[in-house]
Amino acid sequence: MTTSATTPLTQDELKTLVGQAALQYVTPGTIVGVGTGSTVNKFIDALASMKAQIKGAVSSSEASTQRLKALGIEVFDANTVAELGVYIDGADEIDGQGHMVKGGGAALTREKIVAAQSKQFVCIVDDSKLVDALGKFPLPVEVIPMAAQRISAQFAAMGGQATLRLKDGQPLVTDNGQHILDVRGLHITDPLAFESQVNQWPGVVTVGVFAFQKATVCLMGTPGGVKTFKY
Ligand code: A5P
Repeated sequence: MTTSATTPLTQDELKTLVGQAALQYVTPGTIVGVGTGSTVNKFIDALASMKAQIKGAVSSSEASTQRLKALGIEVFDANTVAELGVYIDGADEIDGQGHMVKGGGAALTREKIVAAQSKQFVCIVDDSKLVDALGKFPLPVEVIPMAAQRISAQFAAMGGQATLRLKDGQPLVTDNGQHILDVRGLHITDPLAFESQVNQWPGVVTVGVFAFQKATVCLMGTPGGVKTFKY
């Protein structure tokens, strides 16, 4: 008797699947908004197969810009493009309404800017990113360095523990020259209210909750294939 076992897809393979699936949202002749991260890298690699059909991309980070350019895809300054049809990006968490936590790659500010200038936000994730409520993943917040301590105290007052993100033993410096706080211990039940509140704090550049710029579509890599959610 023989038995056959199907090997489950790895997380990397799920990322490749959704990166390729996102190509269906790219309209020929347009400029595409491109996010940042390991999942988006799969999308960028897939986009290279369409590079002759698109005008180019607006990128959310220096890392994605480099990857796009290396594959021969032109990168436009966001200021030269009035509106984008679609922005494609990953997430660290996504809930059942399309609200996300983003910024694990420290690119949250530019990600939110490009998302805001796009009609559609297509989020590409593997199913490990789906949560009931945001807050399990440490929430990234980009801050002006001189405000880091005060902002940490404000998070402590709401039950969160903020730590300064380090790189090679030094505070990580973002593409915008600022620092990142990662906040643990939050349970975000009202993402819109939370994003509004934290946005008011002096020195906050960007909070990694994407509720105002939530996903309109999510392509989720699962053992059964790519599932599509619309919000
Ligand atoms: C980058 O700053 C983030 O917002 C990414 O979109 C997020 O961290 C997801 O990254 P991965 O695709 O690498 O998990």
